[in-house]
Amino acid sequence: MENKFAGEGSGHDWAHIRRVWHMARRLAQASPEADPEVTELAALLHDIADWKFHGGDYEAGPRAAREWLRSQGAAETLIARVETIIREVSFKGLGVATLVSSIEAALVQDADRLDAIGAIGIARAFAYGGHKGRPLHDEAVAPVAHESFASYQQNTAPTLNHFYEKLLHLKERMHTPAARAVAAQRHAYMEAFVAQFLAEWAGND
Ligand code: ADP
Ligand code: NI
Repeated sequence: MENKFAGEGSGHDWAHIRRVWHMARRLAQASPEADPEVTELAALLHDIADWKFHGGDYEAGPRAAREWLRSQGAAETLIARVETIIREVSFKGLGVATLVSSIEAALVQDADRLDAIGAIGIARAFAYGGHKGRPLHDEAVAPVAHESFASYQQNTAPTLNHFYEKLLHLKERMHTPAARAVAAQRHAYMEAFVAQFLAEWAGND
């Protein structure tokens, strides 16, 4: 994963994967019922082939993870568990339920979402928006609570909308107490950022 994603510029780089891996491991230490091998493997492989960069193909990630694990001679039971987590982990729109079927999936989803908020989350959002050629903000474009994955996928809104459409809601969607604690201060930082951004934008700071 480090070789594959070194120098990637859209916010899905090796440094993101490494942070998610380390955070998932940290959360797993606070959840003794979680299998650390499954948690760490899924965290490392969760962005192996993101749908956003594979023509919207939502099965590209699970498939790529399965193929790689098979090439390493991993047991089919382990492959199935990791593949399921990768399928479950991604955000699919504010109004779309993202259920997790295992504690390991909950930990990886929490770790991935923690990396989307706070200072790094802000930086990643604008890096992604820049990568897509989107404006920072446009007060004429209202945020949308996407009710389907298709609508979320087709979204081309200015980057600040992404805070209302996803990032400011992630705190409430953490599964584990350990993740909720980290999310609380990252969320507060992000709220202060948005308030300052809007004050500067309006020229009344
Ligand atoms: P997840 O990790 O839940 O699958 P994504 O892959 O959708 O989330 O997002 C990865 C990163 O890209 C996150 O930091 C996210 O905030 C950012 N991102 C995704 N979509 C947008 C968007 N429309 N505008 C700005 N940033 C985005
Ligand atoms: Ni990710």
